[in-house]
Amino acid sequence: MPRILSGIKPTGRLHIGNYFGMMRPSIEWQEKGEAFYFIADYHALTTVHDARKLREDTRNVAIDFLACGLDPQKATFFRQSDVPQVTELTWLLSVLTPMGLLERCHAYKDAIAKGFSASHGLFAYPVLMAADILIYDADIVPVGRDQKQHVEVTRDLAIKMNETFGAGLLKLPEPSILPELATIPGLDGQKMSKSYDNTIELFLEEKALRKKIMGIKTDSTPVEAPKDPTSSAIVGLYRLFASPEEVAAMEADFRAGGVGYGTFKQRLFEAVWEHFAPARARRAEIERDPGYVDGVLREGAERAGALASATLLRVRKAMGL
Ligand code: TRP
Repeated sequence: MPRILSGIKPTGRLHIGNYFGMMRPSIEWQEKGEAFYFIADYHALTTVHDARKLREDTRNVAIDFLACGLDPQKATFFRQSDVPQVTELTWLLSVLTPMGLLERCHAYKDAIAKGFSASHGLFAYPVLMAADILIYDADIVPVGRDQKQHVEVTRDLAIKMNETFGAGLLKLPEPSILPELATIPGLDGQKMSKSYDNTIELFLEEKALRKKIMGIKTDSTPVEAPKDPTSSAIVGLYRLFASPEEVAAMEADFRAGGVGYGTFKQRLFEAVWEHFAPARARRAEIERDPGYVDGVLREGAERAGALASATLLRVRKAMGL
C-alpha cells in the first residue's frame, strides 16, 4: 500500500474551494493507501503571529476535516507541531540545501510580493516541508499545483542526502497534482481564493450562507431577458452541487428569460445547504464532545511520532550524530 501524505495550513476557515480542491480528494485517498494528514501549524507560523487565532484555526481545521469524512481509523491525522522531530530533520536537511534552490521557489517570491516580510522561516519553508514528507517515508504527496515545486525541492534534497550519506537513506516521493481550483468560481466570478476575499466557507450559519450567496456578483440583465449561463458564477457553483438534470434545467431557465438572478441564487443556496447537511450534523456532534478531537490528534501524533523518530535516528546516524 502506498503511503500518502499531505498537510494543510491552518490560516482561516475552510471554504468550498478547499473542499473540492483538496479535502474531498484527500478523503478519497484514505481508501487507496496508508494516509497521513497533518495540520501544518509550524508552516502557518511563517505568516500568522496571533496565538489565539492559530489555536482556533487549527482546531477548526481538525473539526471540519473530521466532519467532512476524514476517518481516523483509516488515516493518521495529527498536528505537525505534535511531532517536533520534524524540526530537527529540517536542520539536518538545511546543511545540504543550496541557497539558490530556495531562491528559485515561487511561493517565497509570491509571499514577498504580497508584502510578507522576508523572514528566515518563510525562506526555509520548503525545507520544513521536505522534512514533513521525508520523515514519514511518503510515496505520494497530493498537493495543489502551487506546491508542486516544493515537492520537487524535496526530491532534490533527498537525492543529495542519499548521494552524500548513503544510498536509500531517504525515500523519493512523487507529487500527485490535485484538480485545478480555477473551475470553482468565487463570489466575484474569479477563482475562489482567500487572497481574493471571495470565498464561501463550508460551515456558515443558514442566514450567513444565504447572505453570501445572494452577494454573488451578477450583471444588470432584467428579469424578463435571457441570460448567459456559461459566464455565470451561479451556474458554475451549482454544477458542483446539483445533478446534471438540475444543472440543465437552470441553464435552460437562464436562456429562456423570465427568471431573475435572485431565484437562481435561492436554488444554489438550497443545493449547498443540503449538500453539507450530513457534514453539519457530524460537526455539531463532534463539537459536543471536545475530548474526541483531542483524542484523535493525540493518537495520530503517537503513530506519526513513532515513524518520525525511526527516520530521524537513521539520518542522525548516517550523518555522524
Ligand atoms: N505548504 C503546503 C500548502 O501550503 C502545506 C504543507 C506543509 C504540505 N507541509 C506539507 C503539503 C507536506 C504536503 C506535504 O498547501
